Amino acid sequence: MRNKINIAIDGYSSCGKSTIAKAVAKGLDYFYVDSGAMYRAIALYALQNNCFKKDLSLDEDLLIRLLDHVIVSFKYNTENGQQEIYLNGENVEKEIRSIQVSNHVSPVSKIKEVRQKLVRLQKRLAEAKGVVMDGRDIGTVVIPDAELKIFMMADPAVRAQRRFDELKANGLNVTLEEITANLQSRDEMDVNREIDPLRQADDAVVVDNSNLTLEEQYQFVMGQAIKRLEGVHQQ
Ligand code: DC
Repeated sequence: MRNKINIAIDGYSSCGKSTIAKAVAKGLDYFYVDSGAMYRAIALYALQNNCFKKDLSLDEDLLIRLLDHVIVSFKYNTENGQQEIYLNGENVEKEIRSIQVSNHVSPVSKIKEVRQKLVRLQKRLAEAKGVVMDGRDIGTVVIPDAELKIFMMADPAVRAQRRFDELKANGLNVTLEEITANLQSRDEMDVNREIDPLRQADDAVVVDNSNLTLEEQYQFVMGQAIKRLEGVHQQ
């Protein structure tokens, strides 16, 4: 049987990680795992279960107590060829992309118990290899032995415009200013978070895609993946 590798793609919010991760997973016939979607699903659960107080701060103890009741899973949608996220059996792929969830996900992703739960699940998904997973701590914490690690970056203004276009295309009512502010605060929290902050793995390949087309990024990452795969086959 053909050997498989794991690919970790980390980077700031809205760098285009998921677009490339999805395309590469498709090209290799691998399983794409959107780890951010998992944190978003728990943020949605927290919103639905009144874990945010009147002053908008998160009631961490309440969310931690409820965590055992939260089941996050992925299911393949044969109609659109995408892995979609489910929260306690309900498809929440669309809801988790709302600006409301984006605005509440950082405090949720800071909680140790939340990270432990999701990292455990993510490690399990990557066990059989053949996974492309994107996030913030994939190359450093979740699959530190991934054969290929990519660290993606892009100019903040380019990232804000991309997220704005994506949300608009999905019919969501947002402004560029809102998106820019949300990205800035999430970057800050991702980098300064105490547990598993966003950082580049020592052996990651950096891709700044501010001026790269999707095709150029795809060719580059696929080229790197094929090199690693050839290495695996020679072992
Ligand atoms: O990639 P995204 O924007 O959908 O991620 C949503 C949030 O989840 C983001 O603010 C940071 C957090 N996150 C994380 O802490 N660790 C990951 N591996 C992925 C996402």
